[in-house]
Amino acid sequence: MKAGHDISSIKHSVRGARRLLVITGSGVSAESGIPTFRDVNGWWKTYKPEELATKEAFNREPAEVWRWYEMRRAIIAGAEPNLAHQALARAEISGRRVAIITQNVDDLHERAGHREIIHVHGSIWQLRCTAEGTVFEDRRVPLPTIPPLCTCGQIARPNIVWWDEELDPLVTARVDALVKESFDFVLAVGTEATFDYIRQWALSAKARGALLVELNPRTTALTSAVDMHIGGKAGEVLDVILAE
Ligand code: OAD
Repeated sequence: MKAGHDISSIKHSVRGARRLLVITGSGVSAESGIPTFRDVNGWWKTYKPEELATKEAFNREPAEVWRWYEMRRAIIAGAEPNLAHQALARAEISGRRVAIITQNVDDLHERAGHREIIHVHGSIWQLRCTAEGTVFEDRRVPLPTIPPLCTCGQIARPNIVWWDEELDPLVTARVDALVKESFDFVLAVGTEATFDYIRQWALSAKARGALLVELNPRTTALTSAVDMHIGGKAGEVLDVILAE
């Protein structure tokens, strides 16, 4: 399907939609200058996830892992929400239900003014004490010490789900309940949909009657299951299809 044709037809049907479920991945923040994971310039093309995004790696080399998060915190702190974050937030502010499930640990949806967001992989601005489990926010860039410490004196870790960990069951329960609600559309934006649970959530919403639309310059692990694939950049396309 040609992108131009998709955009005009989807714009027409999205116009009347009041309830949108949006599943975002790192591609939604790409136009803000934040690298994705699996694209040509993505993190996982230069770094090995097992050396940076696992509990095992953190226990072995906490400072090494933290240096990578410091680099990402600096990039995110210097980034601004792009047209994609803004278009979604505008749609929500104008009175539509726009529930976001994001895999992103950045806060660009929030900074665009969006309210209904579930972060399934955590937040880069939250730290968690490795001894007490206490979660606290720390937005300082750079952090005063690497690794950073909790007030109890023990090392803190990023409050982010790593590859050798399970999702937070409370978060999963919220998402499971959300995808059982009734939506007109489920938009999968800027994600490779590598993880089974991402595809399952999208398919659950589709099974309840939502039209499943994927917005991504490339095809992904979800493409064969979608009702419509729009080949384009998140900011450019959402700015058009969500325009009032
Ligand atoms: P990926 O890097 O796997 O996928 C990024 C997707 O964004 C690709 O499908 C790109 O084609 C698409 N993309 C790139 N630029 C885009 C743009 N301007 N507009 C729209 N799409 C664009 O990133 P994720 O799917 O987010 O998890 O990865 C999922 C998880 O894997 C991440 O949350 C992270 C990673 O390992 C953990 O570390 C737990």
